[in-house]
Amino acid sequence: MHDKNIVLIGFMGTGKTSVGKKLAARLNREFVDIDEVIEKEFGMPPTEIFKTYGEKTFRQKEKEVIERYCQHSGKVLSLGGGAFLQEEVKKITLEKCFVIFLDISWEIWKERIPRLISTRPVLQGKTLEETEELFRFRQTIYNDYHLKIDTDRKSVDEVTEEIVQKIQ
Ligand code: S3P
Repeated sequence: MHDKNIVLIGFMGTGKTSVGKKLAARLNREFVDIDEVIEKEFGMPPTEIFKTYGEKTFRQKEKEVIERYCQHSGKVLSLGGGAFLQEEVKKITLEKCFVIFLDISWEIWKERIPRLISTRPVLQGKTLEETEELFRFRQTIYNDYHLKIDTDRKSVDEVTEEIVQKIQ
């Protein structure tokens, strides 16, 4: 793995940003939250981009930012949960970076919906069944990675330590 970027993928609300920050500090690397870069460069948060310009515009910007960061090395990146919907994004990330999938079960994840809904446009207006369908479908886009960590019932610190042990 050496100096490659470490990239965290997984469904929204699985702790990619929290783990990413801890992991970066632990490994003495810079942490980059791709959604934050998009927000800074676009001048509005993802929720607003979705509302004002639609998902397609968000995905284009997301792709451009990820491709740019894939040219770097030595960082810890957290990607939005929908980034791997785009085949080109998936391909370049897997090629250039060390990809870690933070996995979670539906039973644990669904308890987080109330906390996530206001800032996650793709969850809005969906029934629980539709949300579960989205969750199950998304599991299939995260099927390519270099390392998978099961995060069920683990704290951010525990997940971080597990990653550190496994990559060393
Ligand atoms: C999205 C996940 C969000 C953000 C945007 C779209 C998705 O990121 O990129 O709202 O399609 O799953 P997080 O996974 O960090 O919540």
